[in-house]
Amino acid sequence: MKNFILGSLFTLFTLSLAGFSYLRLGFAEVRADIPISRWEASLLAPAVHASVRRHAPEIPNPFPATNENLIAGGKIYFTECSGCHGDFEPGKGGSANALVPSPPQFSSVGTGYTEAQLFWIAKHGIRHSGMFVNGRWDSDERLWQVAAFLKRMNSLPPAVREAVLAPTPK
Ligand code: HEC
Repeated sequence: MKNFILGSLFTLFTLSLAGFSYLRLGFAEVRADIPISRWEASLLAPAVHASVRRHAPEIPNPFPATNENLIAGGKIYFTECSGCHGDFEPGKGGSANALVPSPPQFSSVGTGYTEAQLFWIAKHGIRHSGMFVNGRWDSDERLWQVAAFLKRMNSLPPAVREAVLAPTPK
């Protein structure tokens, strides 16, 4: 039993040292124009999703999905988000290829997150990625509106879609 414990501790120590050395000696790849390795992709994206699920409060959107709130959310989306996450038309407007990890193009992939999770991501941003901390400049109301819009981006009433695309009067 004693040998087993010592062996386990030694293995643990060796693995930690190997991991630490891998990072500190510069073996980790940081270039964004080289494809992400399979183990990196299989570890990191699920870790982000799990962290969002753990931390985001599960509360209903305090701003109901009225046409007015959806239009306001859409206007925010097209001013602050679409440059990275894309337009209504799949493949249009986003910078999917120039950022790693790449910003999901919501009109193509939709989102499995709840509105509370979308709000929480927009408010706090995502570390080590291009995802801004929008909470630094946007009120909670604006971020709930954009969350309501994002959740329904592909199933909006036509009048809302039209109003979102119409030029905003100055
Ligand atoms: C400068 C580019 C950029 C802008 C602008 C931006 N994002 Fe992001 N966003 C990203 C990147 C990059 C990721 C991917 C992060 C990751 O995979 O870890 C991301 C991820 C997300 C996610 C999580 C998606 C998922 O499936 O994990 C949500 C939700 C999101 N952004 C919402 C928004 C909203 C809402 C706005 C506008 C208020 C916005 N983003 C503006 C770059 C951006």
